[in-house]
Amino acid sequence: MLETDKQILSNPVQNSVFIVGYGDIGRRVASLYRNNKVPVTGLARSESSFQLMKDDDVTAVTADLDDIDSLSGLSLAGTLVFYFAPPPPTGTTDPRMKNFLASLDMEKLPRKIIYISTSGVYGDQAGQWVTENTPPKPGADRSFRRLDAEKQLQGFRNKHVVETVILRVSGIYGPGRLPEKRIRNAIPVLKEELSPKTNRIHADDLAKICVAAGKYGRDGEIYNVSDGCDSNMTEYFFQIAKHLGLPKPPTVDWEEAESTLSKGMLSYLRESRRIDNRKMLTELHITLKYPDLLSGLAGIMPSSIPNKDNT
Ligand SMILES: NC(=O)c1ccc[n+]([C@@H]2O[C@H](COP(=O)([O-])OP(=O)(O)OC[C@H]3O[C@@H](n4cnc5c(N)ncnc54)[C@H](OP(=O)(O)O)[C@@H]3O)[C@@H](O)[C@H]2O)c1
Repeated sequence: MLETDKQILSNPVQNSVFIVGYGDIGRRVASLYRNNKVPVTGLARSESSFQLMKDDDVTAVTADLDDIDSLSGLSLAGTLVFYFAPPPPTGTTDPRMKNFLASLDMEKLPRKIIYISTSGVYGDQAGQWVTENTPPKPGADRSFRRLDAEKQLQGFRNKHVVETVILRVSGIYGPGRLPEKRIRNAIPVLKEELSPKTNRIHADDLAKICVAAGKYGRDGEIYNVSDGCDSNMTEYFFQIAKHLGLPKPPTVDWEEAESTLSKGMLSYLRESRRIDNRKMLTELHITLKYPDLLSGLAGIMPSSIPNKDNT
């Protein structure tokens, strides 16, 4: 049975929520719980994040996942934990997840941990549809790090009484999260016929999906998260340029791309896949507010200043 947003959001079935990595998605998730009088604690590293938590009326914990000593004494018994912190920027493992799990008090474990991973763990699938049964095939270090974090979490669940849910999230966009700077700087994109298939999710829909995963996500399960609307990467940049009233970025072939684009961008361009979101829609009872990029962009003021140059 499909539930309305009101049903999902009005009864989140939780006494308290702990958000590890209180950034953009953390804030959005926190506000959904706070609206329903569920107490929220957030954890982040920086002074600016600490201030954001204070502003949001969230209990603030300052700790560094790279420093296990700073994680001692966390009080997580029975809570619903959202783990939103990224792995470190280098390597093929996630020592932050390792530190977090090692810091948990085994006598006072959280009830459930929801982890935001990435659809990047599927690697290049030559433009084919990808379900949760598709074996992961990471191609970039950043995806190996995510898969490592997933495995650590699943291993922890196998040994301890704690539920886990993994969300494999595709490219996040939303207010303040458009590649405006890149388009203003006329950084080239691949010719459309060469451009890989990609998927997106609006940040507000993602926040709602996280709450739904807290309520309905089945223990040990993985859910793909996307609006289910595949497009190619070039079309994505073109649509955003149009929305912002900016000229379309120039297009290049692979040879030029390899000499002009960043390594990071090239690694995204080398992976093509379409994310099947049916399990998320049915099991998590989701009706997307923004089922495609156009509907999502319609609600974003063109003057939004980007804080994340998402590709
Ligand atoms: N961008 C995408 O398209 C995409 C796609 C799939 C998944 N994701 C992932 O989705 C998750 C949520 O995204 P988001 O936009 O909310 O990220 P975000 O705004 O960058 O927030 C990340 C949070 O993690 C905290 N953090 C990072 N390193 C930490 C450390 N060593 N110790 C403690 N806290 C640390 C940051 O705190 P400080 O700022 O205080 O350090 C920040 O509060 C991230 O893991 C992101 O990588 C993103």
